[in-house]
Amino acid sequence: MLDIDDLTPEDLTAILDWAEVMPPPAIMSGRGAALIFEKPSNRTRNSTEMAVVGLGGHPVTIRAEEIGLGVREPIADVTKVLAQYHAVLGARVFDHRVLEEMAALDAIPIVNLLSDVAHPCQALADLLTLRQHWGSLSGHTLAWVGDGNNVARSLTLAAAMAGIGVRLACPAGHAIDEVALDAARGYGAVEVAARPQDAVAGADVVVTDTWVSMGQEAESASRADAFAGYQVDAELMAGASPGAVFLHCLPAHRGEEVTGEVIDGPSSLVWTEAANRMHAARGLLLWMLR
Ligand code: CP
Ligand code: NVA
Repeated sequence: MLDIDDLTPEDLTAILDWAEVMPPPAIMSGRGAALIFEKPSNRTRNSTEMAVVGLGGHPVTIRAEEIGLGVREPIADVTKVLAQYHAVLGARVFDHRVLEEMAALDAIPIVNLLSDVAHPCQALADLLTLRQHWGSLSGHTLAWVGDGNNVARSLTLAAAMAGIGVRLACPAGHAIDEVALDAARGYGAVEVAARPQDAVAGADVVVTDTWVSMGQEAESASRADAFAGYQVDAELMAGASPGAVFLHCLPAHRGEEVTGEVIDGPSSLVWTEAANRMHAARGLLLWMLR
């Protein structure tokens, strides 16, 4: 699963259903999961490791530099070797094409643990959080305010697939790409709004992400200028529907993409969202490996 549109809408629902199966069956007993990280991680590493443990399996987390992915050994050789020991290979990479190369080998199921293009595991957790909060997904409206990046792309696809109307407000030069937009529009209603206020008007959930993703640190100053006016604050949230909730994949930067008042306030579901990374990862593994 490199992005959400590797799934059908039925698969997506099945994964969310598996995420709530308690107690989870020990389908990974005696099996391993290799988790390669080219970038830092708190939630993704811990939630995926504990999801594997929850299914009776054994996670092995690997920093890319310790195996020299593509340096000490070709990516294909690393993948084929890990396939000898593990039931699944997850990877967090700078370049999405690394995941495509791994998946094309057909040696082992590959899970994208975040790339420059997509963050499907986050989108699964976000839908799980919203389904638990609302009781259903279809017919609700989601507003994305901020960077049209990896997180935005996967969430837009996932929401459209689940029947959630999506409204995107991204600054010029930071919009979600046309290919992803077209793909999402193949599943449901996705609108591009001119201003954050237009995207948020009457929305049931408001979502944002950091203005500076991992690997973009050199662009911090220009990005701060580009994203001025795209902060999710109490005034912006007041334009959403009564009872609207706030999501953020984390790590968050209070005073930049969101105010402390919003992320630490009563409309924020970010801790449930973080907890659901583990449940969604377990649901995904059950769906993939059962
Ligand atoms: N949301 C998320 O992917 O967090 P980490 O970068 O800490 O894994
Ligand atoms: N867009 C962010 C998400 C971090 C979970 C990044 O790629 O760094």
